[in-house]
Amino acid sequence: MAGPWACALLCGLLAATSVEATLSPTAVLSLGPEVIRERLTQELEEHNATVILQQLPLLSTMQDQPTGLLGSLVNSVMSSIIWLKVTSANIRQLQVYPSEDYQELVITIPLDMVAGFNTPLIKTIVQMHMETEAQAVIQVQASKGTPTRLVVSDCSSSHRSLRISLLNKLSFLVNPLAKKVTSLLMPALPDMVREELCPVIEAAFDDMYADLLRLVTVPVALNPGSLQFDLLSPVIDVDVIQFNLVASLVNSEGKVSKWFNGSAGFLTVPTLDSIPVRLIVKYDLVNAAVASLLPPEEFLVLLDYVLPKLARQLKASISAFNAKAASQLGPTQMVKIRTQKSPEILLSQDEARVAQVIQLEVFATEKAHHPLFTLGIEAYSEAQFYSSGDQFVLSFKDISSDRIHLMNSGIQPFNPELLKDVVTDILTSVLLPTQNGKLRPGLTMSMMKALGFPEVVWSLTRNALVITPVPW
Ligand SMILES: *[C@@H]1O[C@H](CO)[C@@H](O)[C@H](O)[C@H]1NC(C)=O
Ligand SMILES: *[C@@H]1O[C@H](CO)[C@@H](O)[C@H](O)[C@H]1NC(C)=O
Repeated sequence: MAGPWACALLCGLLAATSVEATLSPTAVLSLGPEVIRERLTQELEEHNATVILQQLPLLSTMQDQPTGLLGSLVNSVMSSIIWLKVTSANIRQLQVYPSEDYQELVITIPLDMVAGFNTPLIKTIVQMHMETEAQAVIQVQASKGTPTRLVVSDCSSSHRSLRISLLNKLSFLVNPLAKKVTSLLMPALPDMVREELCPVIEAAFDDMYADLLRLVTVPVALNPGSLQFDLLSPVIDVDVIQFNLVASLVNSEGKVSKWFNGSAGFLTVPTLDSIPVRLIVKYDLVNAAVASLLPPEEFLVLLDYVLPKLARQLKASISAFNAKAASQLGPTQMVKIRTQKSPEILLSQDEARVAQVIQLEVFATEKAHHPLFTLGIEAYSEAQFYSSGDQFVLSFKDISSDRIHLMNSGIQPFNPELLKDVVTDILTSVLLPTQNGKLRPGLTMSMMKALGFPEVVWSLTRNALVITPVPW
């Protein structure tokens, strides 16, 4: 009978996976096989994998072969060899491919070694070329109480990939000895590789995984505050490692002001194709970042002093429908522009637009308590994302006042349509440069650079921003 313990374990597992299933990622970082290969190669180097290979205990392992049939062979070889060791070792290009059920990643690590031995029979060293490979299987490990992670679930070296050949042409005196050495090494080498190299491969993979997590979770400065990505779950998708990420906005006091771990909107993740690495960020996070840079605000402009040409244009436009109202505009006339909400980025497959709701008030003079009139404007701009190095910048290009309506006015008759051009010109000269100025510092995102891709490009999907390396 399955006791309560079984449920505690199983139910815990089910609960953990269903929580992750209901949370939808706000961003997804996909790492293709090329990136996995490069990073693991580098980590193996840092873990001195080739040094480990050079220290393979060839001689003692041969000695420890089970006695019996081979016993006399071992003894005869041992008595004719002074030393035997790996003299050079190389790790050739790693291969990353999916397991048969597509649930795991298989990484093969081809090893190329030269071993030499010395015998009193001849003066020169007898050299052998040894080729074999280690194979590591990477799996998603979900267990209760610890975060879901990727681990090396199996590591082996098979006889299938094993080849030992002599590098020198040998005399009839040495040839039989070399053949004996080879026949003793053949069965022993895979186990030796597994015992000595597999712990190094596991440690290298763990360090690589920890490094990846670290670089994904480096806070992105937003000024004020920052943007923080966190791992929701790692996923293996064919030959790609996918990090499903949640995010939060952290204010200048270090407190989380907004979470992005809900299930609002589904993030479509297309296949990576030949792209080495890709970050997809859902639009609501993009909008929140923009909102933190551009909170609702108000500008006051003494139009005739700052932009006299626009002041004349405004007067002319008003007089087209109400000459009396136009004549009230004095040299200290003021225009007050208020953004009611932060601008909102609207993404579609092929363009990004910015929508903003703006209130524009015109005061006849500096002293006026009430505006001559107030307009509500729905304005659109083109959103342009660009990057230079690891600096990502958004800027607004052009602005069109698509809908203008009169919110209140002391003047009659009134025609907001006739004000469209001048309103657009005022927003272009006042609002746009101010907003672009605030956006210009951009945000520094070290993730792609840390992954080895300093130059990136942006593209769009229906509901997300896609960041990929510049193709070369
Ligand atoms: C690799 O070798 C270097 C030099 O001997 C040593 O400092 C370093 O700690 C080794 N790395 C690991 C992971 O053992
Ligand atoms: C998700 O958001 C809630 C607040 O809405 C927070 O308490 C929780 O820790 C977040 N979970 C993750 C996985 O970030």
